[in-house]
Parts: sequence; structure tokens; C-alpha cells
Amino acid sequence: MKIELAKSAGLCFGVKRAVDTVYDVLKEKKEGPVHTLGPIIHNEQVVQDLESKGVQVLHSIDELKEEKDAVVIIRSHGITKQMQDALEKKDISIVDATCPFVKKIHNIVHEKWNEGYEIIVVGSAKHPEVQGICGWCDNCCSVIETLEEAQKYTQKEPKKICIVAQTTFNYKKFEDIVDILLKKSYDILVMNTICNATEVRQTEAGTIARNSDAMIVIGGKHSSNTQKLYEICKKECLNTHFIQTLDDLDLNLFQSFRSVGITAGASTPNNIIKEVQSYVRHE
Ligand code: F3S
Repeated sequence: MKIELAKSAGLCFGVKRAVDTVYDVLKEKKEGPVHTLGPIIHNEQVVQDLESKGVQVLHSIDELKEEKDAVVIIRSHGITKQMQDALEKKDISIVDATCPFVKKIHNIVHEKWNEGYEIIVVGSAKHPEVQGICGWCDNCCSVIETLEEAQKYTQKEPKKICIVAQTTFNYKKFEDIVDILLKKSYDILVMNTICNATEVRQTEAGTIARNSDAMIVIGGKHSSNTQKLYEICKKECLNTHFIQTLDDLDLNLFQSFRSVGITAGASTPNNIIKEVQSYVRHE
């Protein structure tokens, strides 16, 4: 049986880097507590594994007690400038695992805001990444998520506008929102800050599914990006199976196939993917 594992399966570069950072800190650290500001990844198994190794998840900086040799790790979503300043005032070590693509948005927003631009963030106001971005212009920005919101938007005072996007925002929708704003004849600087990790993962999954007799999609049942991967693969290959872990895999279903493809959602850790891959290979 030929098995093809998608190169882009599982964690994107930024999340993988953040998770690896926590394990590296644990390896090197002899004393003192290790905290992450929010869960480092949307995957319970990984968060539990880290908890069992002593990592505590903080939900706000206020939860941070006076502790000797404490380390606080910032996750890939990044944080606001106010939070960063508050952390720096504490007697702790900060390890910044903000994804460099998110950090780039912080820098653009901070710089353009200081140059007098008005800032518009295209994204979801509820998302921690967007909340972090807004904190780099003192929350003096507008967040636009829908076409209706773009249509309703009016500028309070005549200023140049800088538009950035949440890294995981849908590109087509971003373009449509920008088009609406451009038609209002404002002086606009558009920075396309969308990260293509999701698109690359989806395109590759579709290609592999098209060329395989069966396809395995690994990821959390509630993960919307894994669901989307499953839909893309199912369209290309009827024998597509959605599993959370190795336990859900019924290999009898695969025995008559010559080629099996494997991909995984954005929060699926590498060890689960490898486990599935080697199990299918050796059966
Ligand atoms: Fe991941 Fe960073 Fe892109 S966290 S989705 S690589 S912006």
C-alpha cells in the first residue's frame, strides 16, 4: 500500500514553534514555575501533557503570583502592548513565542499608528490574535469582520487609513471588505497580512485525496478547520475518513486500497499523525 502524508499536515509553523518552545523551556529549566498565557494550543491532549509536566495555564496576568524564577511563555497569538509592558514590570522571565507573522502585524500597526494613520483590523473582534493586535495602537482602531460592517464604516476625522488582516482571515472576504472601503474614496494603505498556512494545507489535502483510493483526516471533532479539510477531501475521494486518534481507525476499511493519503487539522500534534502513519504502514 502506498501511503502519502501531506507535508502541511497538522500544526502550522507558528503553533509548532510555540509548542516546541514550551517543551524546550521545560527541558532547560531546573527550578521555578512555567506558565503559558492562555493555552499554548487548542488541543487538550497537548495541554494536559504539559500540565502533567508542571506547566500552568494563566488566563490573565493578574493570576501571576510572586514566585521565584517564574517563566511566562507568550503563545503564537501574541498579546497587547499593555500586557507586554505589565509583564516586563514583573520579576519574571518572558519567553515570547508570538508567531513572527503576527509580530509583523503588531509592528505595522504600532508604526503606522505612531505616524498618524487610522488603523482598521479586518478580523473577528473576539479572537485573541485580533485583541492582541488592537493593543498595539492603544485600542484606537476599528475591527471589521463583515461586508455589512464595512459598508456602515465611516471615518471620524480625515486621516490616512492602514488596513491589516487577522492572519487566518478568508482572503476573498478580505478583498471584498477592502473593495468596499476603497470605494469610499479614503486614502488607504492595504497590508495583506493573511498567512497562507491554511490555504496550503487545504490545497495539498485536496490534491492528495484526488490521487488516493482512500484518505484519512486527523483532528478534533469540533475543530472547524479539520471539518473543512474533511469536506475538501471527501469531494475528491469518497473513501475519506475523519478520525480523532488512532483508536477511531478501522483498518479493515483500508485493506483493499492501493494508495492511502493522510492529512491533519491545524491543532493535531505530530506524534498522533506519525502514530497513524506508522500503524497504516505496518498493518
Ligand atoms: Fe500559524 Fe503563524 Fe500562520 S500561527 S496560521 S503560521 S500566522
